[in-house]
Amino acid sequence: MRMDQPILELRSITKKYPGVVALDDVSLSFYRGEVHAIVGENGAGKSTFIKVITGAIQPTKGEIWFEGKKLENNNPQKALEMGISAIYQELNLLKDLTVAENIFYNRYIYKHGLIDYRAIEEESHKVLERLGVKIDPKTLVKNLSVGYQQLVEIAKSLSRTVKVLILDEPSAPLTNNELKYLFDIVEAMRKENMAIIYISHRLEEVFRLCDKVSVFRDGHYIQTMHVKDTNKTELIRLMVNRELNESFPALHTSRGEKVLEVKNLSTSLLKDISFSAYRGERLGFAGLVGAGRTETARAVFGADKIKSGEILIDGKRMKIDSPSDAIKCGIVYLSEDRKQLGLFLNMSIADNILFSYLPKLRNKFGIISKGKASSVCDAQIQNLAIKTPSAQQLVRNLSGGNQQKVVLAKWMLMNCDVIFFDEPTRGIDVGAKQEIYKLMNQLAEEGKAVVMISSEMQELLGMSDRIIVMHEGKIVGELSHEQATQEEVLRLASGV
Ligand SMILES: Nc1ncnc2c1ncn2[C@@H]1O[C@H](COP(=O)(O)OP(=O)(O)OP(=O)(O)O)[C@@H](O)[C@H]1O
Ligand SMILES: [Mg+2]
Repeated sequence: MRMDQPILELRSITKKYPGVVALDDVSLSFYRGEVHAIVGENGAGKSTFIKVITGAIQPTKGEIWFEGKKLENNNPQKALEMGISAIYQELNLLKDLTVAENIFYNRYIYKHGLIDYRAIEEESHKVLERLGVKIDPKTLVKNLSVGYQQLVEIAKSLSRTVKVLILDEPSAPLTNNELKYLFDIVEAMRKENMAIIYISHRLEEVFRLCDKVSVFRDGHYIQTMHVKDTNKTELIRLMVNRELNESFPALHTSRGEKVLEVKNLSTSLLKDISFSAYRGERLGFAGLVGAGRTETARAVFGADKIKSGEILIDGKRMKIDSPSDAIKCGIVYLSEDRKQLGLFLNMSIADNILFSYLPKLRNKFGIISKGKASSVCDAQIQNLAIKTPSAQQLVRNLSGGNQQKVVLAKWMLMNCDVIFFDEPTRGIDVGAKQEIYKLMNQLAEEGKAVVMISSEMQELLGMSDRIIVMHEGKIVGELSHEQATQEEVLRLASGV
């Protein structure tokens, strides 16, 4: 087989689900030594395409060719053995096992009928070393950050012979530090002549890492370009098929009364945190990873134990020992780790969105009208542009980004005064980001205090009326919208 032949070729792939054509006649080829990005809005068909390649799902129609031969009866085991390895949007590690046990899961090395720990730990060490990642193979996976877990997942797939490596939004859970690892790994694998398929909503990564980029829209293949021949504006236009203004929507209200006051809050990680949030204001939290932003939100929300300090709502001191106390006080927190948010995957979108809201729809006779419930739910689906044939669709069947929107839709219905958003637009496509920004503004305009933790500098600068900067568990500065520049935020965040 010639080197300029594609290693992997998909011909006329169609995948239909009831009410949805997830992929419509898509043909695309992949070559050795190339990093090939696939971009498109939430629900465009990217993950479905990947699952067809790995044999996790069967296409309704179409053919797969691998190393010049037609692939019959593709299935995950077969694909893996041939050298096609994918890392999905959702991590698949067993958290109570060690790193080494995970890397060798299902193909342990045995000695006298027992797992040969020395062997699997040594082998794991080698793979991790090849990736340049410093993790002890004996560590339990649950003790690693989500980012490191992602790196273990990559190590696991690279411990076999891999010819095609597929990464479905690998960067979403990664911090900036870990991101550098990921980029180095991808570079190294390209040098080893692997074909790499890279899915991401962060277009900067496409330009930094990839050789080619293909655009999907609504289940259709649109076009493939060399990255050097295109730019961000063109990619966005091809993805969303309409003019999209990348600026941030303006807020039409002014700052109201103080609603939340945090006084001298300390936990095992936080040192003497004091700040206030006001009605009608969007307060941003900046900081490097580990600065304590998520910890601050969790402490206020009653999810972490507080050592000392006070939380006041409308000037009254509140006792918050658990998230349910916090919700009663009108504080809501949207976690960055969406898996922990209790989406019921086997329930419909409607049941998920209305789960906590339904009781509020009772009329004076105690009866909930079906029409009212469904109109509330439909409005949320429309507001957040959740891509689905109906509100009765199971959440399990939604694309990754659309599942996240269901979480947002659910929490936005909670009657609250203060709402914390932790990395609200991770994994969300360019078009839907705008919708989320508009909703945040709407909440502020309704008189709520909107607090946003974000690692995306442009979003933070564009969507905050005031920014608090944290460093190593402390607040190190506060900037007004006018004072806040990228340099100033970074200077404070790095502790200078
Ligand atoms: N098992 C299923 N049953 C019904 N519909 C499905 C199923 N799996 C996927 N879909 C639908 O197929 C479409 C494509 O989904 P896919 O997960 O491929 O999108 P995606 O491009 O990966 O989006 P994201 O960026 O949000 O991850 C979506 O409309 C989704 O709801
Ligand atoms: Mg996806």
